[in-house]
Amino acid sequence: MALTTVFLISSILIICISPITAQSPPSPPLPPSPSPAPAPAPAHLNLTNLLSFAGPFHTFLNLLIQTNVIQTFQSQANNSDQGITIFVPNDSAFSKLEKPSLSNLTKKQLKSLLLYHAFPKFYSLSDFNNLSTHNPVSTFAGRQYTLNITDTNGLIQVASDWSNPKISSSVYSTDPAAVYEVNSVLLPKAIVTTAPALTPAPAPAPAPDLTPSSDLSPAGQKGSGAAPKSSESGNTNSSSRNIAAGAVVRLFAVVLGAIML
Ligand SMILES: *[C@@H]1O[C@H](CO)[C@@H](O)[C@H](O)[C@H]1NC(C)=O
Ligand SMILES: *[C@@H]1O[C@H](CO)[C@@H](O)[C@H](O)[C@H]1NC(C)=O
Ligand SMILES: *[C@@H]1O[C@H](CO)[C@@H](O)[C@H](O)[C@H]1NC(C)=O
Ligand SMILES: *[C@@H]1O[C@H](CO)[C@@H](O)[C@H](O)[C@H]1NC(C)=O
Ligand SMILES: *[C@@H]1O[C@H](CO)[C@@H](O)[C@H](O)[C@H]1NC(C)=O
Ligand SMILES: *[C@@H]1O[C@H](CO)[C@@H](O)[C@H](O)[C@H]1NC(C)=O
Ligand SMILES: *[C@@H]1O[C@H](CO)[C@@H](O)[C@H](O)[C@H]1NC(C)=O
Repeated sequence: MALTTVFLISSILIICISPITAQSPPSPPLPPSPSPAPAPAPAHLNLTNLLSFAGPFHTFLNLLIQTNVIQTFQSQANNSDQGITIFVPNDSAFSKLEKPSLSNLTKKQLKSLLLYHAFPKFYSLSDFNNLSTHNPVSTFAGRQYTLNITDTNGLIQVASDWSNPKISSSVYSTDPAAVYEVNSVLLPKAIVTTAPALTPAPAPAPAPDLTPSSDLSPAGQKGSGAAPKSSESGNTNSSSRNIAAGAVVRLFAVVLGAIML
């Protein structure tokens, strides 16, 4: 009797429970078949925006606009086949030059000078090591306007006839466009025929030092005589860090620039 009751109760329980246990969790409704997302528009760099937010590169940007070289650079940046690499001196690099250096140039010369600040091809920072074995490298200004690249353990320098600046930061470097900050204006002898006069840099050194500042001396001088005192040449480590730190700072500007697109 008791056994029958237990059996009955068990049966009732099983009957009651089984529909629950048997019930498979409600199968989630099929998500609406995903309509293919529209292909993202090809990302394109707006050089004007980049140069107005990073930097300060106002002098360089204004010269690019004034001569319409900005169009040449932008259309090359749009050209993902070869791309472009631009070396951009910041505003203080321009203000270091004494007035006559650039203001007496003809419009055509000024245009060439600006085109001289670019290669009609994209180079990442790591490409410069190989490129440095192919000196002299023709610029956007033409075959006769060349630059020499050196890469000393990551300290990358860009030698023109009258200056040998280092790349102090990577402002933007995504194929097909690269923009690197350099700490001097690049000056070809074919345009600037005599050594440019420089406004004296505020020198903290107590003893007068007549050696030209290392980043604005003819590249050829490097080999002859004592190397000019340079805080850069001995310390490739901090230079690499500078490039990295600069890149982080610039990222903010690039993001701002991108938002403005
Ligand atoms: C870059 O952006 C500016 C305004 O932010 C716009 O006037 C210009 O047409 C843009 N240039 C390109 C090449 O998209
Ligand atoms: C570069 O490409 C952008 C977007 O496709 C376009 O708006 C702009 O006019 C192009 N600029 C040049 C100079 O080709
Ligand atoms: C090295 O540079 C030369 C000239 O720019 C190029 O033709 C060659 O493909 C490069 N080699 C490598 C391994 O990147
Ligand atoms: C580049 O290097 C070549 C030798 O490889 C030299 O003749 C030329 O003067 C150098 N040009 C610059 C701008 O330093
Ligand atoms: C411009 O570049 C020079 C040389 O790299 C640097 O000392 C200076 O701080 C820069 N100026 C600005 C405003 O970033
Ligand atoms: C402009 O002046 C610089 C030096 O101040 C000189 O080297 C250059 O030849 C001059 N250019 C012209 C076109 O007169
Ligand atoms: C950078 O400095 C660290 C120690 O401070 C050292 O171990 C490393 O080899 C250096 N790298 C270069 C490229 O000089």
